[in-house]
Amino acid sequence: MDSPTPRTLAPRSSARMLELVFPKDTNYLGTAFGGFVLSLMDKAASVAAVRHSRRAVVTARMDGVDFHVPIRAGDAVALEAEVTRVGRTSMTVRVDVYREQLASGEQQLATSGTFVFVAVDDQGRPVAVPPLSAASSPD
Ligand SMILES: CC(C)(COP(=O)(O)OP(=O)(O)OC[C@H]1O[C@@H](n2cnc3c(N)ncnc32)[C@H](O)[C@@H]1OP(=O)(O)O)[C@@H](O)C(=O)NCCC(=O)NCCS
Repeated sequence: MDSPTPRTLAPRSSARMLELVFPKDTNYLGTAFGGFVLSLMDKAASVAAVRHSRRAVVTARMDGVDFHVPIRAGDAVALEAEVTRVGRTSMTVRVDVYREQLASGEQQLATSGTFVFVAVDDQGRPVAVPPLSAASSPD
Protein backbone atom coordinates (compact mmCIF):
# COMPACT_ATOMS: atom_id res chain seq x y z
CA MET A 1 0.00 0.00 0.00
CA ASP A 2 1.24 3.50 -0.87
CA SER A 3 2.29 5.59 2.12
CA PRO A 4 0.66 9.05 2.28
CA THR A 5 2.64 11.94 0.81
CA PRO A 6 4.52 13.68 3.63
CA ARG A 7 3.37 17.23 4.41
CA THR A 8 5.87 20.05 4.11
CA LEU A 9 5.85 23.53 5.61
CA ALA A 10 5.41 26.65 3.50
CA PRO A 11 8.37 29.05 3.28
CA ARG A 12 8.29 31.07 6.51
CA SER A 13 8.56 34.73 5.48
CA SER A 14 8.18 34.79 1.71
CA ALA A 15 5.67 34.06 -1.04
CA ARG A 16 5.58 33.50 -4.79
CA MET A 17 2.59 34.02 -7.04
CA LEU A 18 1.86 33.62 -10.74
CA GLU A 19 -0.98 35.34 -12.58
CA LEU A 20 -2.06 35.73 -16.19
CA VAL A 21 -2.89 39.17 -17.59
CA PHE A 22 -6.17 39.31 -19.51
CA PRO A 23 -7.57 42.19 -21.59
CA LYS A 24 -9.92 43.14 -18.71
CA ASP A 25 -6.79 43.97 -16.64
CA THR A 26 -5.42 46.43 -19.21
CA ASN A 27 -5.94 50.00 -20.43
CA TYR A 28 -6.57 51.14 -24.01
CA LEU A 29 -2.87 50.73 -24.79
CA GLY A 30 -3.15 47.02 -23.99
CA THR A 31 -0.90 47.28 -20.94
CA ALA A 32 -1.79 46.35 -17.36
CA PHE A 33 -3.48 48.90 -15.08
CA GLY A 34 -1.23 49.99 -12.25
CA GLY A 35 -4.02 49.20 -9.79
CA PHE A 36 -4.23 45.63 -11.05
CA VAL A 37 -0.50 45.12 -10.47
CA LEU A 38 -0.70 46.83 -7.06
CA SER A 39 -3.49 44.49 -5.93
CA LEU A 40 -1.41 41.45 -6.91
CA MET A 41 1.58 42.89 -5.04
CA ASP A 42 -0.57 43.55 -1.97
CA LYS A 43 -1.84 39.96 -2.11
CA ALA A 44 1.60 38.35 -2.46
CA ALA A 45 3.07 40.63 0.23
CA SER A 46 0.24 39.84 2.65
CA VAL A 47 0.88 36.09 2.26
CA ALA A 48 4.58 36.63 3.11
CA ALA A 49 3.56 38.70 6.17
CA VAL A 50 1.01 36.11 7.36
CA ARG A 51 3.56 33.33 6.84
CA HIS A 52 6.01 35.30 8.98
CA SER A 53 3.65 36.32 11.76
CA ARG A 54 1.07 33.51 11.64
CA ARG A 55 -1.48 36.26 12.39
CA ALA A 56 -4.04 38.23 10.44
CA VAL A 57 -2.41 41.30 8.87
CA VAL A 58 -3.55 44.63 7.43
CA THR A 59 -1.77 46.83 4.90
CA ALA A 60 -0.50 49.97 6.63
CA ARG A 61 1.62 51.47 3.84
CA MET A 62 2.62 51.04 0.22
CA ASP A 63 5.95 52.70 -0.49
CA GLY A 64 8.14 53.48 -3.45
CA VAL A 65 6.39 51.44 -6.10
CA ASP A 66 8.24 51.76 -9.41
CA PHE A 67 6.74 50.61 -12.70
CA HIS A 68 9.83 49.91 -14.82
CA VAL A 69 8.35 48.36 -17.97
CA PRO A 70 4.77 47.79 -19.15
CA ILE A 71 3.10 44.40 -18.79
CA ARG A 72 0.94 43.33 -21.73
CA ALA A 73 -2.23 41.25 -22.09
CA GLY A 74 -1.15 37.65 -22.64
CA ASP A 75 1.90 38.02 -20.40
CA ALA A 76 2.23 36.16 -17.13
CA VAL A 77 3.32 38.04 -14.03
CA ALA A 78 5.53 36.31 -11.50
CA LEU A 79 5.63 37.92 -8.06
CA GLU A 80 8.24 37.38 -5.37
CA ALA A 81 7.58 38.79 -1.90
CA GLU A 82 9.87 38.65 1.11
CA VAL A 83 9.76 40.08 4.63
CA THR A 84 12.89 42.24 4.90
CA ARG A 85 12.38 44.03 8.21
CA VAL A 86 10.37 43.43 11.33
CA GLY A 87 9.35 45.92 14.02
CA ARG A 88 7.32 45.11 17.12
CA THR A 89 4.02 44.59 15.29
CA SER A 90 4.90 45.70 11.75
CA MET A 91 6.61 43.92 8.88
CA THR A 92 8.22 45.46 5.79
CA VAL A 93 7.83 43.34 2.67
CA ARG A 94 9.75 43.83 -0.57
CA VAL A 95 7.86 42.75 -3.71
CA ASP A 96 9.36 42.26 -7.18
CA VAL A 97 7.08 41.66 -10.14
CA TYR A 98 8.47 40.01 -13.27
CA ARG A 99 6.76 40.20 -16.62
CA GLU A 100 7.02 36.83 -18.40
CA GLN A 101 6.50 36.42 -22.12
CA LEU A 102 5.07 32.94 -22.11
CA ALA A 103 6.08 32.00 -25.66
CA SER A 104 9.78 32.76 -25.11
CA GLY A 105 9.97 32.25 -21.35
CA GLU A 106 11.79 35.57 -21.07
CA GLN A 107 11.36 37.37 -17.74
CA GLN A 108 11.97 41.03 -17.04
CA LEU A 109 11.67 42.99 -13.78
CA ALA A 110 8.55 45.09 -14.41
CA THR A 111 7.58 46.55 -11.03
CA SER A 112 9.00 46.66 -7.53
CA GLY A 113 7.87 48.13 -4.26
CA THR A 114 7.75 47.96 -0.51
CA PHE A 115 4.73 47.30 1.69
CA VAL A 116 4.26 47.58 5.44
CA PHE A 117 1.84 45.21 7.16
CA VAL A 118 0.73 45.20 10.78
CA ALA A 119 -0.27 41.98 12.52
CA VAL A 120 -3.62 42.36 14.29
CA ASP A 121 -5.82 40.42 16.70
CA ASP A 122 -9.54 39.67 16.28
CA GLN A 123 -10.37 43.27 17.25
CA GLY A 124 -7.92 44.73 14.70
CA ARG A 125 -5.45 45.77 17.42
CA PRO A 126 -1.70 45.47 16.64
CA VAL A 127 -0.01 42.39 18.10
CA ALA A 128 3.68 41.52 18.41
CA VAL A 129 5.37 39.47 15.69
CA PRO A 130 8.46 37.25 15.91
CA PRO A 131 11.87 38.72 15.00
CA LEU A 132 13.14 37.97 11.51
CA SER A 133 15.85 35.56 12.64
CA ALA A 134 13.48 33.49 14.81
CA ALA A 135 11.07 33.07 11.92
CA SER A 136 13.60 32.33 9.19
CA SER A 137 13.61 28.60 9.93
CA PRO A 138 10.56 26.55 8.80
CA ASP A 139 9.32 26.20 12.42
C1 LIG B 1 -2.40 49.67 10.66
C2 LIG B 1 -3.19 49.85 11.97
C3 LIG B 1 -3.63 48.49 12.50
C4 LIG B 1 -2.22 50.51 12.97
O1 LIG B 1 -2.96 50.73 14.13
P1 LIG B 1 -2.47 51.82 15.23
O2 LIG B 1 -3.41 51.78 16.37
O3 LIG B 1 -2.20 53.11 14.53
O4 LIG B 1 -1.13 51.15 15.71
P2 LIG B 1 0.19 51.76 16.32
O5 LIG B 1 0.28 53.25 16.26
O6 LIG B 1 0.33 51.12 17.68
O7 LIG B 1 1.29 51.17 15.34
C5 LIG B 1 1.47 49.79 15.25
C6 LIG B 1 2.59 49.52 14.27
O8 LIG B 1 2.14 49.89 12.97
C7 LIG B 1 3.09 50.78 12.38
N1 LIG B 1 2.35 51.67 11.51
C8 LIG B 1 1.14 52.23 11.74
N2 LIG B 1 0.77 52.98 10.69
C9 LIG B 1 1.78 52.89 9.78
C10 LIG B 1 2.01 53.45 8.50
N3 LIG B 1 1.11 54.23 7.89
N4 LIG B 1 3.14 53.13 7.86
C11 LIG B 1 4.05 52.32 8.42
N5 LIG B 1 3.90 51.76 9.63
C12 LIG B 1 2.78 52.05 10.30
C13 LIG B 1 3.74 51.48 13.57
O9 LIG B 1 5.00 52.03 13.21
C14 LIG B 1 3.85 50.33 14.54
O10 LIG B 1 4.95 49.50 14.16
P3 LIG B 1 5.82 48.68 15.28
O11 LIG B 1 4.87 48.02 16.23
O12 LIG B 1 6.56 47.65 14.47
O13 LIG B 1 6.71 49.66 15.94
C15 LIG B 1 -4.44 50.79 11.78
O14 LIG B 1 -4.00 52.09 11.42
C16 LIG B 1 -5.39 50.28 10.72
O15 LIG B 1 -6.19 49.37 10.98
N6 LIG B 1 -5.33 50.85 9.49
C17 LIG B 1 -6.20 50.42 8.40
C18 LIG B 1 -5.61 49.18 7.72
C19 LIG B 1 -6.40 48.80 6.50
O16 LIG B 1 -7.61 48.83 6.52
N7 LIG B 1 -5.67 48.44 5.45
C20 LIG B 1 -6.28 48.14 4.18
C21 LIG B 1 -6.25 49.36 3.34
S1 LIG B 1 -7.65 49.46 2.32
